Amino acid sequence: MLNNLKLALTFGLGLAHVTQALPAYAQQETAPGWASNGQALYFQTNEKENAIVSVKIHANGTLSEGIMTYTNGTGASMLSAATNMTASPDGLSSQGAVAVAGHSLFAVNAGDNTVSMFNINPEDPTNITLLGMPASVPGDFPVTVSASELNNLVCVGTSGSTGGVACAPYSPFVGIGKMDFLRSFDLDQEPVPAGPLDTVGQVRFSEDESQLLVTVKGNPAANKTGFLAAFTVGGSCLTGEAKVSAASIESTLNGTVALFGFEQIAQSNRYFVADPAYGVAIVSVDEKTDSSLLLHKQAVPNQMATCWAAISPASNSAFVTDPLVNHIVELSLVDASVISVVNTTSSNDATGYTDLTAAGNFVYALSPGTQENSSAEIAVLSVGEWKNSSIIQSFNLGSMAGSSAQGLAVFPAY
Ligand SMILES: *[C@@H]1O[C@H](CO)[C@@H](O)[C@H](O)[C@H]1NC(C)=O
Ligand SMILES: *[C@@H]1O[C@H](CO)[C@@H](O)[C@H](O)[C@H]1NC(C)=O
Ligand SMILES: *[C@@H]1O[C@H](CO)[C@@H](O)[C@H](O)[C@H]1NC(C)=O
Ligand SMILES: *[C@@H]1O[C@H](CO)[C@@H](O)[C@H](O)[C@H]1NC(C)=O
Ligand SMILES: *[C@@H]1O[C@H](CO)[C@@H](O)[C@H](O)[C@H]1NC(C)=O
Ligand SMILES: *[C@@H]1O[C@H](CO)[C@@H](O)[C@H](O)[C@H]1NC(C)=O
Ligand SMILES: *[C@@H]1O[C@H](CO)[C@@H](O)[C@H](O)[C@H]1NC(C)=O
Ligand SMILES: *[C@@H]1O[C@H](CO)[C@@H](O)[C@H](O)[C@H]1NC(C)=O
Ligand SMILES: *[C@@H]1O[C@H](CO)[C@@H](O)[C@H](O)[C@H]1NC(C)=O
Repeated sequence: MLNNLKLALTFGLGLAHVTQALPAYAQQETAPGWASNGQALYFQTNEKENAIVSVKIHANGTLSEGIMTYTNGTGASMLSAATNMTASPDGLSSQGAVAVAGHSLFAVNAGDNTVSMFNINPEDPTNITLLGMPASVPGDFPVTVSASELNNLVCVGTSGSTGGVACAPYSPFVGIGKMDFLRSFDLDQEPVPAGPLDTVGQVRFSEDESQLLVTVKGNPAANKTGFLAAFTVGGSCLTGEAKVSAASIESTLNGTVALFGFEQIAQSNRYFVADPAYGVAIVSVDEKTDSSLLLHKQAVPNQMATCWAAISPASNSAFVTDPLVNHIVELSLVDASVISVVNTTSSNDATGYTDLTAAGNFVYALSPGTQENSSAEIAVLSVGEWKNSSIIQSFNLGSMAGSSAQGLAVFPAY
């Protein structure tokens, strides 16, 4: 029954959705290996008065014109378990602190347990408009968000003492409805968590929007093994009744430690995952049983904490970043082997990069800046077409954002 439903969602309804009049930007997507450029990037400042910074992407991939828009929520950073001080950078210890689905943008507010939603103006995607009040999340310290346009569902992962995942329906023109309930994870945390271990890494809907995947980081010192949780999306999206299952299949993957940021490898059931303990892994998720399997594990050379992963359709490879090592590493989607290492020492004043995303022939990576009150930057890495990747711009955000900046999402999302 569940599987039939999922098949219907995947093939029947999914197809119906795709054959609706497609917006112009989606029609541009054609041959593999070629991907249209992004039009705008978004991240959150994660300052007390939390705000989104939206940045214009030019046709040549470079960036300009940051605009700040308040989320009407409160930002916050977790503690570092190692120092017992506020963690900086990476105060959320997550990938996906902001997310784009269709013309909608979502951002978590860790300081007041809410999630904000914005409408993106397609004529000028740096122009975003807050829709309604931020929605309350029934958990502590939201760090990551993902939305399903097909199902009009938004899900949030929380890393505090009430850690887990909660979901709500949303309407692209009205805002977010009531969050359902917390699907708890066994996190040994206070309301403000001490990370990075034993917290949620990322929530993300699968490409066909029939599953919700969540990475939860383990903590070897406490004998806790991290896992990948898979929830099923059921109910009909046509009647607005799509729901994420209450229970999940949690798979611990022998050899992994702290599964963090991830992205699905297109048209496959495989996921490319960053793991700060050693580098990266490729994992498969069974579409019928929701259980996961480790396919490849790869150490990233010189790494200290490989936390974020993004897949570039142009280069057909994955890119990962590390906040403690000034490099961006490119890896194979087939076996996770290392393809290239871009040494970013000369273009980045910080010790490394945090979140990243790919669009067209470019990969964009967020640098938190050097020390307190210094500006965040976004590096533009040219990839694909010319094979040898290189940084073509480091865009300085000036007074708009500093080392608490978090997340990175692109419009259009596909
Ligand atoms: C990219 O395009 C922008 C806007 O047209 C222009 O200002 C900039 O000089 C271009 N940069 C490169 C490297 O071509
Ligand atoms: C959000 O907006 C409401 C209404 O304008 C205001 O009362 C509240 O203080 C705002 N909250 C934050 C955190 O900005
Ligand atoms: C961390 O700081 C809090 C108070 O801010 C204190 O209660 C706690 O014992 C400290 N933990 C460690 C491991 O030092
Ligand atoms: C931003 O977009 C909204 C609609 O989404 C529109 O009403 C508003 O005029 C736009 N603002 C600017 C400065 O273009
Ligand atoms: C972890 O497990 C090992 C072996 O089972 C045990 O020796 C050790 O005491 C455990 N540590 C903690 C913190 O529970
Ligand atoms: C995990 O892998 C190690 C070495 O690769 C192996 O010795 C161990 O038996 C495995 N454990 C499980 C539970 O499969
Ligand atoms: C990166 O470049 C810097 C400066 O050119 C150099 O000092 C450093 O050794 C390089 N790192 C690696 C891992 O090659
Ligand atoms: C950073 O900015 C805050 C607020 O403007 C200020 O209180 C603090 O002294 C500044 N820190 C440094 C190192 O400049
Ligand atoms: C590729 O690398 C070569 C040699 O390292 C360099 O001369 C060339 O400018 C690079 N091309 C691009 C597009 O970065």
